Amino acid sequence: MPEDLEELRAATTALLSLATDLQAWDAVRVGTLGKSGALTTLLKELGKTAPEARRERGAALNRLKDDLATAIEARRVALEAEALAARLAAERMDVTLPPRPEIPGSLHPLSRTLEEITAIFGAMGFSVAEGPDIESDWHNFSALNIPGHHPARDDHDTFYLPGVPEQGSNGPPRVLRTHTSPVQVRTMLGQPPPIRVIVPGRTYRADHDATHSPMFHQCEGLVIDRDITLGHLKGCLTDFLRAFFGITTLPVRFRASYFPFTEPSMEVDIGWSRRTGEIGGGTDWLEILGSGMVHPKVLANCGIDPREWQGFAFGMGMERLTMLKHGMPDLRPFYESDLRWLRHYAASPFAPASLHEGVAG
Ligand code: DAH
Repeated sequence: MPEDLEELRAATTALLSLATDLQAWDAVRVGTLGKSGALTTLLKELGKTAPEARRERGAALNRLKDDLATAIEARRVALEAEALAARLAAERMDVTLPPRPEIPGSLHPLSRTLEEITAIFGAMGFSVAEGPDIESDWHNFSALNIPGHHPARDDHDTFYLPGVPEQGSNGPPRVLRTHTSPVQVRTMLGQPPPIRVIVPGRTYRADHDATHSPMFHQCEGLVIDRDITLGHLKGCLTDFLRAFFGITTLPVRFRASYFPFTEPSMEVDIGWSRRTGEIGGGTDWLEILGSGMVHPKVLANCGIDPREWQGFAFGMGMERLTMLKHGMPDLRPFYESDLRWLRHYAASPFAPASLHEGVAG
């Protein structure tokens, strides 16, 4: 290869190794292969070479061009790899750091109860359904067989909102839902049976004392299928209560009662000691939830043929369950955000409720 070409090769190679970033590298590339780069200029001058030497010089120039293009590209790849390695080293994050000893957050006892209820019913094949806090009068009352004049409405005094605008100002009022039962209606209207859902959520009533809050939480349950009997209801709720309180021999009693949306209806009691407050001990009974076989009228209101389908429903207060499980005397601290109370009753977010771990732990 002619001397001047060897020199250009050596000079370019040296410049390339001196280029330590992509900007310097690009200057070498343009200075060599660019429009007025050193090699490009030599190629342009090929025409001036004497015809007998032109062929040989042309071949040498093209070889050099290939070699330099390869070297330049290799340098780019190397520089990019170096830049990436430097970035990875600089932005390195140690994900193996242990958690801080002081956990910044913890689970409110109501959230923990919700997790436990969901774990227990989840294992029995229930899924979770939800509905709006602001309900129509129809979903909250009428569809559940509680007509306007019904005395059951007295126990469900709540907060009323203006009527639905599209039905005119005289339209039926909307209410803050007084129970989670309207989601039974929404679920039945929204999906064909069989149905197996629980419905945890906020509920409202015009009530305020040590054991009542204007806003509280309930969990509803609904099972609709063919051939569902009172036996299923009793087995399901007995299993639930024993799992929730972690007492396999917990006495459970079903007592005839009345709800407009179930027939027959039953109150469910658990054994406890009135004197010591011990759940499962003593000879007293404590009312814990309401239940019953879904009223045929409610099924029909929701477009389900009561001759073909039947089922059971239940509803319970989540604060009440939580208070009983943890021996809490007063409901108001649930919403007062007193850190001392929260620290005392809170659960660890790193110990989620599961049947495998034992929800009562
Ligand atoms: N909705 C009732 C209440 O708030 C509780 C209840 C009772 C729900 C019986 C039910 C049921 O689904 O079957 O007082």
